[in-house]
Amino acid sequence: MQNKLEEIIASIDISGPVPEEGDQRQYYYIKKMRDYTAAKSQELGRNLTACTVTFGCQMNAKDSEKLAGILEACGFDVRDEENSDFLIYNTCTVRDNADQHLYGRIGRASHYKKENPEMKIAVCGCMMQEKTAVDKLHKSYPYVDLIFGTHNLYCFAEYIYEVYHSDKRVTELWESGDRIVEDLPTDRKFSWKSGVNIMYGCNNFCSYCIVPYVRGREKSREPIDILREIERLASDGVKEIMLLGQNVNSYGKTLEDPISFAELLEATTKIDGIERVRFMTSHPKDLSEDLIQCIKRNPKIARHIHLPLQSGSDRILKAMNRRYTKEQYLALAEHIRQEIPDAAITTDIIVGFPGETAEDVDETIDVVKKVGFDNAFTFIYSMRKGTPAARMEQVPEDVKKENFARLLAVVQDTAKEQAERFAGMEMSALIESVNEEDSSYVTGRLSNNMIVHVKGDPSLIGSFVPVKLDECHGFYYFGHVLDSDETRQVEL
Ligand code: 5AD
Ligand code: SF4
Repeated sequence: MQNKLEEIIASIDISGPVPEEGDQRQYYYIKKMRDYTAAKSQELGRNLTACTVTFGCQMNAKDSEKLAGILEACGFDVRDEENSDFLIYNTCTVRDNADQHLYGRIGRASHYKKENPEMKIAVCGCMMQEKTAVDKLHKSYPYVDLIFGTHNLYCFAEYIYEVYHSDKRVTELWESGDRIVEDLPTDRKFSWKSGVNIMYGCNNFCSYCIVPYVRGREKSREPIDILREIERLASDGVKEIMLLGQNVNSYGKTLEDPISFAELLEATTKIDGIERVRFMTSHPKDLSEDLIQCIKRNPKIARHIHLPLQSGSDRILKAMNRRYTKEQYLALAEHIRQEIPDAAITTDIIVGFPGETAEDVDETIDVVKKVGFDNAFTFIYSMRKGTPAARMEQVPEDVKKENFARLLAVVQDTAKEQAERFAGMEMSALIESVNEEDSSYVTGRLSNNMIVHVKGDPSLIGSFVPVKLDECHGFYYFGHVLDSDETRQVEL
């Protein structure tokens, strides 16, 4: 990857005109910035440094790897938030607490900037697609040097150049964007696993959700580009990939040569070196029988389906514009349990959606008990300006909190019960880190997305090892690595 980047940069002529658009234009600015950072580093007697701070989901984490890759290609060394010359916040706006968190962090960054007059501060991502947030930054945080959004993230190199070559704040916001620019540099956080975007945006317009407004309409990447990227990752040593999209089940429908998500998924597992494939997120209304059968017959596909329920009440589901009923969801979950019994089913649930009563929450709790979710992320409804739900009658905070506590207790009990069902089994774990509490242990992730702690040394990080799950501790296991005498068939 590094060599390829250097080859591309070497081929760019910065004495000529700026290429009109696309990745060539960005490489042009990367090369220009390299000259700038080299000169500046010489002047300062040290290298310029940069840090990317990420809020929100896996898609944002993936975007941040691209931002970091571009910064490194421009000649910055990666450092922490406090000691960077270029600080970029990649924001989330799915719930209000993410917004508040960001303002706190930018406030603190003003102190770093006072200490370091070279410092530049940039803010990008979902929150910047909202006018009110940008207005607030302009007004109350005038020391922010660069603001851009989700549709033009690929222009980052050009914007960095502008920041260093103009004395005004740079704000570049696009209302939409269909372009998918492939092949920009990226700095992967882990050497053995990687997220891979398969689509961008969302067309579902759930009535509470801001995502379709800030990420735009659904766009699928071409399968050939996705598969090529995964081949490259595999040849770089990546063993596990996570296919990313807001609604992966509708992948490929709008391509010139339509292809289903199940077909794409199957193709990814055939790439040499890829041992496990995950995906996120599925919408229950679009999850196909083909996909279930594809997971069932292919042991490389993770035994984990994240299937956001949001609510178990038909009335609330309708108001949320989810387009399925409680019965339909239950039937789907039941069918998955029958077809792939070793798969974990996890979910997202919102409590306190406008008009929700205690009886509606009882319906949600009923689904939690019936499905027996292996894990559930529970959220208190957060009003997002511009969404249809923001104009509906809101539920008082104390009622939301009471219902949330009631639901959370059931969710936790159910998850604990479910975890027990895997105790004593043998599985393959991908070791991800040294255990935080006891460094003689390492921590791995199972195909069903559960965590296991086993005795082992850091050299195991990034490898698949066969483990036995000896003890279940609620949400995780203690186990041991099976030695070669324990000749058992461990499924991947
Ligand atoms: N309030 C609370 N939770 C929300 N989510 C999305 N929008 C909101 C909102 N306005 C939750 C949904 C989604 C998850 C990523 O975030 O449960 O599945
Ligand atoms: Fe938001 Fe619904 Fe799209 Fe998920 S499917 S991103 S909840 S609109």
